[in-house]
Amino acid sequence: MSVEQEIAPAAEQTAEPRNILEVKDLKKYFLIRKEWKVVKERVAAENAEPAEAENAEEGTEPPAEPAEPAETPAEAAEGETAPSAEEGEEGTQDAAESAQKQFKNKYKLEYRKTYVKAVDGVTFSIPYGETLGIVGESGCGKSTMGRSILRLHDITAGQVIFDGQDITKMKPAELRKIRPQMQIVFQDPYSSLPPRLPVGEIIGEAVKVHKIVPKSEYRDYIVDIMRKCGLQDFYFDRYPHEFSGGQRQRICIARALALGPKFVVCDEPVSALDVSIQAQIVNLLKELQRDMHLTYMFISHDLSVVKHISDRVGVMYLGNFVEMGSKNAIFNSPMHPYTLALLSAVPVPDPHYEVKRIILEGDIPSPANPPKGCKFHTRCSYCMDVCKEVAPKFIDYGNGHLCACHLYPQEPQVQ
Ligand SMILES: Nc1ncnc2c1ncn2[C@@H]1O[C@H](COP(=O)(O)OP(=O)(O)OP(=O)(O)O)[C@@H](O)[C@H]1O
Ligand code: SF4
Ligand SMILES: [Mg+2]
Repeated sequence: MSVEQEIAPAAEQTAEPRNILEVKDLKKYFLIRKEWKVVKERVAAENAEPAEAENAEEGTEPPAEPAEPAETPAEAAEGETAPSAEEGEEGTQDAAESAQKQFKNKYKLEYRKTYVKAVDGVTFSIPYGETLGIVGESGCGKSTMGRSILRLHDITAGQVIFDGQDITKMKPAELRKIRPQMQIVFQDPYSSLPPRLPVGEIIGEAVKVHKIVPKSEYRDYIVDIMRKCGLQDFYFDRYPHEFSGGQRQRICIARALALGPKFVVCDEPVSALDVSIQAQIVNLLKELQRDMHLTYMFISHDLSVVKHISDRVGVMYLGNFVEMGSKNAIFNSPMHPYTLALLSAVPVPDPHYEVKRIILEGDIPSPANPPKGCKFHTRCSYCMDVCKEVAPKFIDYGNGHLCACHLYPQEPQVQ
């Protein structure tokens, strides 16, 4: 079961929604394996219930009405009865088919699908003009969440409301109309730019498609965006390979902003850059946010960068938020043991300050088969019996500081 998220009642609907983004119980599962499994011998279980009812194994839960399998259990049958080598091709086929039949009659089979639960039921909102920082270990589902929100992935379950519109099930044509308003800046400025297009074309491609400005104003418009992002006018006709990593990331930012978005997912936009360039890009993003009234979701595994740019911070672990709150709450009074461990790993530039590093034991568990109860219990030094059985609720402990941990009361707190 995913971490149940109890959030304070939504604010009353007004003509102008307060939040640019509202995400409710969002799930994104990836199908990674399909296979036939022997459930039991038929002779021993003649009156057994249908196979589907037994599909309760961890990590195999289908997210949404899986289609009937078309394949036959050929591989399973192979091991059971090997057809004779002397038979011709037709004979071999007949023998294989009859072996399959025999096998099917003898055993009860089940067609199992295994899913990676990359995002497993997250609920949150982002007010206009705010930056929500998202932190967590590699593979915890940060990018998948960012992409699902923008509908770059099909969503498995849940709801995404963007600027007052429910985009969860929007058709591609409708989605295309609001695409310019929600953009993404990717992690790797080297692979995310097409090498054969000059910079002006790269930034302007979508501007033309979405007819953001009349043709006559196109060049001036692009040059203006380039200047805002710290790029010189004459870069317009140059190619990506002629630029440094920092300059390329500026081009990526200019490409996203050229469409006049309201909301930008920044997916590790500075991770591939060296520290001094990181600061330039983060400061540029902040300036642009102020000038262009942007709202950001800023994904990073670098807590110092997140601290610098975010208003609120969400900490993710294995597809769920374990803690969320204002920047001050998360950095000055963290509640969740996982947040404490992450913060203890941040280097402090003071040789006299002794940092007590919390070393997490073991690897992050597989999101295809997450642990029962609290997903963090396999690595938590505070783990209690209840943690192994019951998933803690994501509860607001005051001033929008939410945490999912049995160390704190599990009843919703009266504000
Ligand atoms: N297209 C895909 N098919 C199958 N599994 C996927 C796919 N994309 C992501 N995953 C899995 O989903 C989980 C979450 O991946 P995701 O890329 O969202 O993590 P992340 O938090 O962004 O990690 P990183 O910090 O390394 O970028 C991982 O276990 C990953 O292997
Ligand atoms: S619920 Fe238990 S295992 Fe999970 S973080 Fe809290 S104390 Fe640790
Ligand atoms: Mg990622």
